[in-house]
Amino acid sequence: MRLDCISCYHAPLLAIVYLFCFLFTSSVNGWHPWHNQKHIATDFLVGSSKKYEGSSEFVHLRYHMGPVLSENIIVYPIWYGKWDRTQKRIIRDFIISISSINTKLPSVSGWWKTVQLYTDQTGANISRTVHLGQEKSIRFYSLGRSLTRLTVQTVIKTAITARTKPLPVNSKSGVYLVLTSDDVYVQDFCDNVCGFHYFTFPSIVGYTVPYAWIGNSGKMCPGMCDYPFVIPEYIPGLKPVKSPNGDVGVDGMMSVIGHEIAEVATNPLINAWYAGQDPVFPVEIADLCQGIYGTGGGGSYPGQMLKGKDGATYNMNGVRRRFLVQWLWNHFFNYCTGPNALHH
Ligand SMILES: *[C@@H]1O[C@H](CO)[C@@H](O)[C@H](O)[C@H]1NC(C)=O
Repeated sequence: MRLDCISCYHAPLLAIVYLFCFLFTSSVNGWHPWHNQKHIATDFLVGSSKKYEGSSEFVHLRYHMGPVLSENIIVYPIWYGKWDRTQKRIIRDFIISISSINTKLPSVSGWWKTVQLYTDQTGANISRTVHLGQEKSIRFYSLGRSLTRLTVQTVIKTAITARTKPLPVNSKSGVYLVLTSDDVYVQDFCDNVCGFHYFTFPSIVGYTVPYAWIGNSGKMCPGMCDYPFVIPEYIPGLKPVKSPNGDVGVDGMMSVIGHEIAEVATNPLINAWYAGQDPVFPVEIADLCQGIYGTGGGGSYPGQMLKGKDGATYNMNGVRRRFLVQWLWNHFFNYCTGPNALHH
C-alpha cells in the first residue's frame, strides 16, 4: 500500500505524481526522514510564493468531528525489552518537559503550544498539561523480538492486565507509549517507519485507548530514524550533527516520540485532525513537517538549529536536558513552526 516516493525525486516535471505521492504515502502513522517528497511537491506547485517552512496553500488540514485529547493528558510508557536507566531518564524528561513552565527558551513547552491550537467541535483545546503516568517494564520479551502492529496491542494488554502493578485503563486522557529496545523488530520498522500511532481494539485489549509505538533504531536503521545525527547514504555531502544526550538511538527517538504524541493528541481515534481524502492514509500535524527542525528547513536541510558549547545540536530546552524535535503544522497559517523559529 505504500508508494516508494524516493523514485518521485527523479521525475521533477510530474507534478501530478508528486501530489499523488504527497497525498498517499504518509501511511497511517509512519515516520521517515525523507519528508522531502512533500516539500518538493509543495514547493514545486507553489513555486516562489513559499515564505515559511513547509507552507502551502494546497494543504488543508481538516477537522473530521472526532474527539481530541482535551483533558490533562497522561502518558504511560511501556518499556519493552532491554532499557537502561539513562535511556529511560532521557525519554521521561521529554514527557515531563512538555508542560514544564520553568525551562529556558526555546522550550519543549513552547513547541507544544502549536498542538494546543487545535480544538474539537465543542471548542475545547488540546490540553496544555501532559503528565508522566505509571510505567511498566516488560523486560523478558514475552511476546518475542519481532512484533506486528497487532501484537503491539497485545503488549498493551499485557501491561494493563499484569498481576503486579498493572497500568490503569484510561480511555479519557491516556496515551500508551510502547517503546521497544534496539534489538526488537516491529512490523514495517525501518521500511519508511520509525513509529506509528493508532487506537487499541476491544477484541485484543478489551478497551479502546490511543497508543503509539516508537522503536529504538540505533542499531537497525540509524540512517533513517536518527537523522540528522546519522545521515543516510542517499544524501551525499551532508554531515551528521552531534546528538544532545549522548545516545544517538534515544536522541533520534525523541523527535519521533514528539511526532507521535502530537498526532495522538490531535487525532487520537483517527477521526479528528488530518489532511487527505482517505483516513487510511491520513496526513497529520507532524507528517507535514518531518525533517524540519528550524527556520529555513525543507528538502534535505533540517533548518537552523542551536549548537551548545559541547558541540551538540538541539532546538529546544527541556527539564534537565536539551532535545532536537521536529516542528509541527500550524493550521491557521499553513506552515510548520517550532519554538526556535526566527521570524514567525
Ligand atoms: C485554543 O484554540 C483557539 C482556536 O484554535 C486558539 O485561538 C487559542 O489560542 C487556543 N488556546 C490556547 C491556550 O492555545
